[in-house]
Amino acid sequence: MDYVYGPGRNHLFVPGPVNIPEQVLRAMNRNNEDYRSPAVPALTKTLLEDVKKIFKTTSGTPFLFPTTGTGAWESALTNTLSPGDRIVSFLIGQFSLLWIDQQQRLNFKVDVIESDWGEGAKLDVLAAKLAADTDHTIKAVCIVHNETATGVTNDLSLVRRILDEYRHPALFLVDGVSSICALDFRMDDWGVDVALTGSQKALSLPTGIGIVCASPRALEASKTAKSLRVFFDWKDYLKFYNLGTYWPYTPSIQLLYGLRAALDLVFEEGLENVIARHKRLGQATRLAVEAWGLKNCTQKEEWHSDTVTAVLVPPYIDSSEIVRRAWKRYNLSLGLGLNKVAGKVFRIGHLGHLNELQLLGCLAGVEMILKDVGYPVKLGSGVAAASSYFQNNIPLIPSRI
Ligand SMILES: Cc1ncc(COP(=O)(O)O)c(C=O)c1O
Repeated sequence: MDYVYGPGRNHLFVPGPVNIPEQVLRAMNRNNEDYRSPAVPALTKTLLEDVKKIFKTTSGTPFLFPTTGTGAWESALTNTLSPGDRIVSFLIGQFSLLWIDQQQRLNFKVDVIESDWGEGAKLDVLAAKLAADTDHTIKAVCIVHNETATGVTNDLSLVRRILDEYRHPALFLVDGVSSICALDFRMDDWGVDVALTGSQKALSLPTGIGIVCASPRALEASKTAKSLRVFFDWKDYLKFYNLGTYWPYTPSIQLLYGLRAALDLVFEEGLENVIARHKRLGQATRLAVEAWGLKNCTQKEEWHSDTVTAVLVPPYIDSSEIVRRAWKRYNLSLGLGLNKVAGKVFRIGHLGHLNELQLLGCLAGVEMILKDVGYPVKLGSGVAAASSYFQNNIPLIPSRI
């Protein structure tokens, strides 16, 4: 594979999959093991206890599916709903679009609430729908917390408040794929019924674990939900949880050890410090974009994402060319614009195992590329804005104080 070789590290700044820490790589570099030996259930028990902390739940029940975010979506839906159920879902970008497509293919009746790409979920429309739904025909509200395609973060506490205001019993299902373990996420406080994420995002693992967490209400709903499910059935997992062996089928041993190491790193840094670091990374990126004279795809500050920034380019530039050039010339991987915003935005992922100086490298690369493609940027302008912010805001590394 010589043709992809580039000296030094690839600067991986797509919004997932992200950089894997050395500690995780080393933890995963091991032989297979018998998952029915006492060691693997003992390890699994600690993982199930500890993933609850990144969802901020004490009452939730987590499941570690050998899958991706897409499988985790399916698990959330099929375990809690029956074919024909009416659900409300927000379309704000490519990933919410894909989830809605899955919801429709699973035969739910979806009320789609659409926003312009770059805007957040229209919660006033949700409020109107819930107010009108006195018979409680709406069985679930589905929302992508952080739309990775546009860099939009929705306010989940508001969704909860609206559900409560109308005393509506709909289940609250949340895609936290590019938010959980990076952005403020509180499953219990916000009364989320099913939350899910994928291992290749903020947890900085390889792709392959879909983490789904179910509230007691969601578990109760799963007892009567009639959607067909086999591989993703919570019941099979619960049976093995009760037996203390945990696995209805073969888990990836390497990923389990990787997850252990990833969680240890999060707890060593402190979850709140992880969230604060992402805030700094997001803010510095936005300052750089402003200094370049470019616009953020995200239309309002309240929706700004601290895990991904989608940067709008002027109409005379094809953003795909920026992404191509970044990889070919600077060994920098940026995110493409997807679907409606293809060619119009490029994305800087700033989540997971990443520090501020790494981000400055990425921003320097973006400046050079912008110049390459004919955009009149002053080299160093974005880096200066970001580093001046960092210099004033980076705390000491928690483990070195
Ligand atoms: C918000 C969001 N949801 C779901 C997915 C789908 O996850 P996967 O590609 O792991 O199936 C992604 C992938 O990037 C995502 O960003």
